[in-house]
Amino acid sequence: GGRRSLIIANWKLNGGIDLMCTSIATLVGKEFDTDIAVCPPYIYIRDMLSLLHHSEVQIGSQNVSKFESGAYTGETSAEMLKKVGCSLCLIGHSERRQMFRENNISCNIKVKNALIHGLVPVLCIGENAEEKEAGITKDIIFRQIDEGLKEIQDYEGDVCIAYEPVWAIGSGKSADPELAQEVHQFIRKCLKEKYGAGFAQKNRILYGGSVSRKNACELLEKPDIDGLLVGGASLDPEHFLQICTQCE
Ligand code: G3H
Repeated sequence: GGRRSLIIANWKLNGGIDLMCTSIATLVGKEFDTDIAVCPPYIYIRDMLSLLHHSEVQIGSQNVSKFESGAYTGETSAEMLKKVGCSLCLIGHSERRQMFRENNISCNIKVKNALIHGLVPVLCIGENAEEKEAGITKDIIFRQIDEGLKEIQDYEGDVCIAYEPVWAIGSGKSADPELAQEVHQFIRKCLKEKYGAGFAQKNRILYGGSVSRKNACELLEKPDIDGLLVGGASLDPEHFLQICTQCE
């Protein structure tokens, strides 16, 4: 579809100065055929951006506030993230939906905030094991897209979807590439029905859930898989680099 792949490292609540330095040393000075981004904990974003200065590697956040400013202790706004130099932000990761009461409505507000301030929202969606078992994967996904991307037609900028089946996250059981492709194709169809063919064709749909150097290429070869969201494997900079470069 002419979409450039995007590979994102999501460190979650892991890492520190050491991982920051080794990651920078591993990624800087390399040329990539794909877009690469790292989402470290907030506290490292600014240092990473300054250490990366002329590199093509982008930095994103793992979350963003649904508020703009004011008395919201502990929050970080889209505007702050953009001003510091972030390119994108993850929104509605399943861990946030499960443990921090995020839902499609809060995700929608965050998506709009990101778009207003020029950050690419990476809306994370996906069914859990029970929903898969019950055969309602597509219903869940349709709803997550329909509500999460509600009324964004007047905003400019790219949107990214990350399909992460919850049962595949951190489990070592990645989705079968064929199955992932089928869901990604369905996601693209939902995007098309909602905002038209142009929107569906230009925007990227990433896969996440136990991605490693063993399955990365097979996933990326699929026509509707436009990139990867890598958790555990991204905590080893060499492993992440292999995921980013071995399929070129
Ligand atoms: O954001 C990343 C995903 O939750 C995947 O995590 O690669 O450790 O399974 P994982």
